[in-house]
Amino acid sequence: MTIAKRSFDTLIIGAGGGGLRAALQLSQADARVAVVSKVFPTRSHTVAAQGGVNAALANVLPDNWHWHMFDTVKGSDYLGDQDAIEYMCRAAPRVVYELEHFGVPFSRLDTGRIYQRAFGGQSRDFGGDQAVRTCAAADRTGHAILHSLYQQNIRAKTHFFDEYFAVDLIRNQGGYFLGALVIDIASGEPLLIEAKTTILATGGVGQLFRTNTNALINTGDGMAMALRSGIPLQDMEFFQFHPTGIAGKGMLITEGARGEGGYLLNGDGERFMERYAPNAKDLASRDVVSRSIATEIREGRGAGPDKDYVLLKLDHLGADIVKKRLPGIRDTVMTFLHIDPAETPVPVYPTLHYTMGGIPTDRNGQVVVPLQQGAEEPVPGLYAVGECACVSVHGANRLGGNSLLDILVFGRAAANHVIDQLKEQRYHQQIPDDAAEPAMQRLARWDRQGQGESVSRLRQELAKTMEDHCSVFRNEDVLQEGRNKVLELRERLQDAYIDDHSQVFNTARIEAMELENLMDIGVATVTSALARRESRGAHSRIDYPDRDDQHWLRHSLFSLEGDKMDYKPVRMKPLTVESFPPKKRTY
Ligand code: FUM
Repeated sequence: MTIAKRSFDTLIIGAGGGGLRAALQLSQADARVAVVSKVFPTRSHTVAAQGGVNAALANVLPDNWHWHMFDTVKGSDYLGDQDAIEYMCRAAPRVVYELEHFGVPFSRLDTGRIYQRAFGGQSRDFGGDQAVRTCAAADRTGHAILHSLYQQNIRAKTHFFDEYFAVDLIRNQGGYFLGALVIDIASGEPLLIEAKTTILATGGVGQLFRTNTNALINTGDGMAMALRSGIPLQDMEFFQFHPTGIAGKGMLITEGARGEGGYLLNGDGERFMERYAPNAKDLASRDVVSRSIATEIREGRGAGPDKDYVLLKLDHLGADIVKKRLPGIRDTVMTFLHIDPAETPVPVYPTLHYTMGGIPTDRNGQVVVPLQQGAEEPVPGLYAVGECACVSVHGANRLGGNSLLDILVFGRAAANHVIDQLKEQRYHQQIPDDAAEPAMQRLARWDRQGQGESVSRLRQELAKTMEDHCSVFRNEDVLQEGRNKVLELRERLQDAYIDDHSQVFNTARIEAMELENLMDIGVATVTSALARRESRGAHSRIDYPDRDDQHWLRHSLFSLEGDKMDYKPVRMKPLTVESFPPKKRTY
């Protein structure tokens, strides 16, 4: 079969904030850029980011990037790479002012400056009083950023392939990445997109867990494509549970709600965070607050008839503040719970929110693979940015507000690196005739009708297994059982069938490929979590309750071939300042 082909300088897979920020930088430099997205770009998951983006602008209180860097390293439980963290925190004010110039409608202080709010785990003066660092557009910051970036890309003539699904990456024998095979979701027609460089910006994998804040599209497609290409995934045991999802449903209630002065109560009406984090209280780091909520409930102090949630109290803020600063979450709560948070406390429970691990990259966004003795080498032609990547600025636990920052800083950095590369590489490398064959076979596998289990039921079973076996608290037995179950589910997927071969055939076929992606990442996650015998950041082992820097201050690497674990050192040395050595982490 002859496959249609298009050629570009750079192919970007994913049209969230990371992909669009990279695309804009490249298009403005006159590169020919294709952005492939499985949804219309402004429906990408960045649109759901609520509370804001961190930058030490000091618009409300004194601040500087050194304090931001310290908080990020401490928040990461010392697993973050300090060169990348320094780079990100220093670049933060610049990328936020760029957004302002792109037209992002930030909320404003009375002085006219960009509005900033308090967020968790952020301090002044290296662990002192609460900082006010998170730049916000009400509680719809991601929406504002994504729409502005999309409009700027239209103006810069970025080429969009909307509603196309990436099946697999294309490489030559030398391991050079040459683009991807994608399909038009509506027609099912394959298309080979040839590119001198490919940037993965496909977001996280929140759909691995049953209750989550993520869009349905967050199925880890880029991570799984990298895995299938022989690239290991880094730190996949570290998933963030956001403390305040709507109980039983999972929708996000922004940390900004606590930043505006909201607080948590247990079933006895107690402000329990005062016991767990005497200084930061409700604005402790997310891993700490999520564990505290889970502990309150486990120990019988939950609220409600089944004592299975806690309450987020906002009614004391006054209706004006709730309506002005938190209009989106007020809408969500009124829609899904039929209560007004300006009047009634909201039932909340930790919900899966963010993938700290991902495709290993350096701070230029270049995908890297390990060599001997801790050294690494870049993978030619391949980059990754945003939640699908692990650069690693979040380590074992991300600070709220650093996710939007990550996509902006490293989307931009990767694009700048690609621009330099393109100057040296004027022509496309030859794509071997059979290079798209493995991707075409993957596609063909889901053309068949057959008997077996349904894809959608297997997906539900996977998400429930991950929630039951790899949640806020973990232990050896539960993880081992979870791993066995996920391995078995992956086997069963081999014989699964597509539920409906009628009008929705193409979307059903995509759901099947998404599930293949989820399965591989599920195995990566439980295998990495089982192997790490310590508690660090969001990875909390009841059987190994302490952080163990002697053995575990290292990144994990999971490879698909043999489902094998490997490790590499943390980059403790920043670029220009003294490093922050590991210390006991309290809030
Ligand atoms: O709570 C929030 O608004 C989420 C922000 C983030 O994850 O960075």
